[in-house]
Amino acid sequence: MADAFSTLPPIADGGAAVITGGASGIGLAAAQRFAAMGLPVVLADLSGEKLRAAEKAVQAAGGRVAAVPTDVAKPADLERLRDLALRQFGHVSVLMLNAGIGLNTGSAWKGLDGWKTLMDVNLWGVIHGAHAFLPAMVEARRPAYVIATGSKQGITTPPGNAAYNVSKAGLKAYAEALQHELRNTEGCGISAHLLIPGFTFTGITAGRVNEKPPAAWTADQVVEFMLQSLSRDDFYILCPDNDVSRATDEKRMAWAMGDVIENRPPLSRWHPDWKAAFEAFMAGKG
Ligand SMILES: NC(=O)c1ccc[n+]([C@@H]2O[C@H](COP(=O)([O-])OP(=O)(O)OC[C@H]3O[C@@H](n4cnc5c(N)ncnc54)[C@H](O)[C@@H]3O)[C@@H](O)[C@H]2O)c1
Repeated sequence: MADAFSTLPPIADGGAAVITGGASGIGLAAAQRFAAMGLPVVLADLSGEKLRAAEKAVQAAGGRVAAVPTDVAKPADLERLRDLALRQFGHVSVLMLNAGIGLNTGSAWKGLDGWKTLMDVNLWGVIHGAHAFLPAMVEARRPAYVIATGSKQGITTPPGNAAYNVSKAGLKAYAEALQHELRNTEGCGISAHLLIPGFTFTGITAGRVNEKPPAAWTADQVVEFMLQSLSRDDFYILCPDNDVSRATDEKRMAWAMGDVIENRPPLSRWHPDWKAAFEAFMAGKG
C-alpha cells in the first residue's frame, strides 16, 4: 500500500535519507520508514555489529542502503559521510541529525570529561552535520528536510542531568536559528524541524528497563507522528507519549517560561516552596 507521506515534496524528490544514530531506536525506525517509501538510506552510526545488523534489517525490507561508520563528534566523519551520500545517491532529501547519548554526569560541576563527550555528540554532532551537508544542499535548490532530534529536557530542563539538558537546550536554539536562516535564504526549498520525542522505548531507555514500559511510545509511533507533523509543516514536532499529553506538555512549558516572567527561582517546578502553586497551575487553578 502506498505511504500517505510519499508525496511530500522532499520525499517525492527521491534523494537520500541520511540518518545519524541510524542503527537503533528512532533513527532506525525512521530509516526503515524512509526506505519503505523508496528513498535510499544512509545509516550513519558508530562502527560495529549494531550498524551491520541495522544495514541488514533495512536491506531485508527491500531498501537501498549504505551503512557508514561515523562518529558525529568528528567533523571529518560528517564530511566523508556527505561525500559518500552525494557520490552514491546524487542528492539528499532528508538529513536527520539524530545521534544522541544519555550519559549522566550527575553534577553541574563534576565529570568534565562526561560533559564534553555529551556536548560533542548531542550538540556538536548536529552542528557538524549541518556544516558538512547544508552548503551543497542549499546550492542544489531542491526540497529537503533537516530534522534535529531534541528533547523536552532541553525545554523544561528538569533536575538530574544538567549536561543532557544543556546539550538539548543548545540544540533547540540552534535548530530555531537554522530554520530562520533557511526560510530567509532565497530559492531555498529546505526546511528545518525540531523533533521532540516523549518517552520512547529505544536503545537509550532499554539501558534502564528490559520491556517497553506502558508509558513509553515505540520508535515507530514517533516516526509516524514526525511524518504527520512534517505534512503540516510543523517546526516543533512535540510528541506526546502514553503518559504525557500535549496539554500537559504545554502547561509544563508555560510554567518553565513563567519562572523568568514571574521572577520565580529557576526550576521552581521542583522547589518545595512552589510545589502547591505548580500543582494548582497544572490543575487549571493557578
Ligand atoms: N528515547 C527517548 O525517550 C528519547 C527522548 C527524547 C529524546 N531522545 C533523543 O532521540 C535521539 C535518538 O535516540 P534513541 O532514543 O533512538 O536512542 P538509541 O540509543 O536507540 O539511538 C541513538 C543512536 O545514536 C548512536 N550514537 C551515539 N553516539 C554516536 C556518535 N558519536 N556518532 C554516531 N552515532 C552515535 C548510538 O549508537 C545509537 O545507535 C537522541 O538524540 C536522544 O537524545 C530520545
